[in-house]
Amino acid sequence: MAKIVAKQEIVPNVHMMEIAAPELAAKMRAGQFVIIMADELAERLPFSVSDWDAKAGTITVVFLEAGWSTRKMVDLRAGDELAHVVGPLGRPSEIVKGARAVCAGGCYGVGAVLPLSRALKAAGSHVTTIIEARSDYLLYWKDRIEPHCDELLIATSDGSAGVRGHVYNVIETMIGQGRAIDRVYAIGCTFMMKRCADVTRPSGIKTMVALNPIMVDGTGMCGCCRVSVGGKTKFACVDGPEFDGHEVDWQELGRRRAMYPVAEVESFDQGEYVHHPHHDADVSV
Ligand code: FES
Repeated sequence: MAKIVAKQEIVPNVHMMEIAAPELAAKMRAGQFVIIMADELAERLPFSVSDWDAKAGTITVVFLEAGWSTRKMVDLRAGDELAHVVGPLGRPSEIVKGARAVCAGGCYGVGAVLPLSRALKAAGSHVTTIIEARSDYLLYWKDRIEPHCDELLIATSDGSAGVRGHVYNVIETMIGQGRAIDRVYAIGCTFMMKRCADVTRPSGIKTMVALNPIMVDGTGMCGCCRVSVGGKTKFACVDGPEFDGHEVDWQELGRRRAMYPVAEVESFDQGEYVHHPHHDADVSV
């Protein structure tokens, strides 16, 4: 069991959960993830770790409510307990030293670029961090990320903040302007990461992407998270989640990720979902 220290809906449908997990917080490194089961019957869900505090013994995850099991997490509040939190899982990000790095984050990945930017800056790299959202009011953690990068750029689909467009449009512009970039890191939805890899491919800028295939055990046992990278089968949970985006078979990843959304929606129609007692009283804590 792991106690929830704090929980907050930071922008609509994006939730932050701080969890007491001292053993994990002591070992966590940028790029790693945890698997959480909200209760004994919930799915095992992988979450990028967006921050941690070894002294306080806490880890922080940022997630979207996207189905049955994340709804269970949304129903919980500070003081409640999660049935299981397992980690740190996956290999840490490959942190380049003294390089010109670009970190691109969208969706839940805006949280996950914080530790990445922090680790790169600590390694003496010049860090440009780009975050995106559909609109200004959906952007989060600007103030939390800014101290850990040299430059924070923003992209919004409606142009209400920063550049109109996406993180990959900003990267494309930077390349077009002749800005020197040694390494790009992208974390967020599959399409966004693919597009980041697409725009850097012509100039050969190495682009690392944190893949998010469906996972079950997270320890290399089930094969559910297999992806093809450079023509070889890899397990994202133990060989990744970070891979060279120019070598990923994106079509296969897209097909595998598209297998269950209908079942996910149908699960709500089965009438089996029982809200946690807190839910009706206060959904925003
Ligand atoms: Fe089972 Fe990776 S999640 S092998």
